[in-house]
Amino acid sequence: MTEKPILRVLAGNDVWPPPVWLMRQAGRYLPEYRAIKDSSGGFIARCMSPDLATEITLQPIRRFGMDAAILFSDILILPWALGQDVRFTDGVGPVLVPIRNAAALDALEPSRVAEATAPVLETIGRLRRALPPACTLIGFCGAPFTVACYMVEGGGSRDFPETRGMAYGEPALFDRLIDMLTRTTTDYLSAQIWAGAEVVMLFDTWAGMLSPSQFLRYVVAPAAAIVSELNARHPGVPVIGFPRLAGLYAGLYAERTGVDCVALDTGTDPARAAASVPDSVALQGNLDPIALIAGGAAMRQEISSIVGALRGRPHIFNLGHGILPQTRPEHVAELVEFLRSC
Ligand code: CP3
Repeated sequence: MTEKPILRVLAGNDVWPPPVWLMRQAGRYLPEYRAIKDSSGGFIARCMSPDLATEITLQPIRRFGMDAAILFSDILILPWALGQDVRFTDGVGPVLVPIRNAAALDALEPSRVAEATAPVLETIGRLRRALPPACTLIGFCGAPFTVACYMVEGGGSRDFPETRGMAYGEPALFDRLIDMLTRTTTDYLSAQIWAGAEVVMLFDTWAGMLSPSQFLRYVVAPAAAIVSELNARHPGVPVIGFPRLAGLYAGLYAERTGVDCVALDTGTDPARAAASVPDSVALQGNLDPIALIAGGAAMRQEISSIVGALRGRPHIFNLGHGILPQTRPEHVAELVEFLRSC
């Protein structure tokens, strides 16, 4: 039986107090990250440097003693590795040359992914050797629909009209994109597990934007295919799914995809999610990142209500979405300390 609290929760055990890590725990809110950022070229270069990515991943572990480390990388590394032009510009976010037709889709090269992502796998190996014994290493990918959103739109958007327009107007083309992403995501997550990732997480940031039928087709079906293939190749390696803004479907998502844990977004009531998700499936979440910015009594109240609602179930404490850059590191320390005193 493993001693790592996160793996015990993901095996279906209830651990008290719940272990904790935070989405985007490595990043701009930390002065030690900003110091590296100012002297290290671009974001993709940081992700592709085993020295820098290892150091950045370890920063929040050293400072706060989190129960898990999440690989420092990005969901848009996969499109970049497929050969799409992807850039990160400060203050703008990601900018991609959009994929809007069959010729652009055919120009992508799934056969490049293994070689292009080799430095990420090197980082994972180094992290496994460097992490404290109780700390679990989490690898990740974007889920196919969310990655397709950025690939087709060419960047962030409020409602991704080009992407969702393609799904309705050219379903055969959109299906081809989703199928290609489902395969390449499976292989990339599998490579991360071979390299040493102990858990993998699928980030479906825009899952909640879809109609019910498209949710089944573009969120649930790809996640189910990825989970079943990973389970076949790597029995016992847990998968966390994050169908953001789709809390209403937490039970359906858990049952039909076979994930070991559903990550809940800020707006989902944990007690309702607990009632709809099978008891053997862990829940992760879901403090409002703004409550973490506020800190103090308001934050502690929210933490108490989340852990109270999920007490007795397998639960990993986390945010409902990523840490925001204006967060004070002292508030993260306060969160961890308060949780561990529960
Ligand atoms: O600590 C961690 O959580 C690990 C690293 C991680 C990053 N991105 C680092 C990052 C993870 C897991 C992600 C996931 C990710 N990336 C998602 C899914 C989760 C979510 O937040 O919804 C999405 C949609 C992206 C795409 C992305 N990457 C955007 C939209 C942006 C720009 C917005 C921003 O915050 O600047 C990024 C950049 C990015 N990814 C940064 C970091 C630390 C900031 C860039 C920098 O520091 O130079």
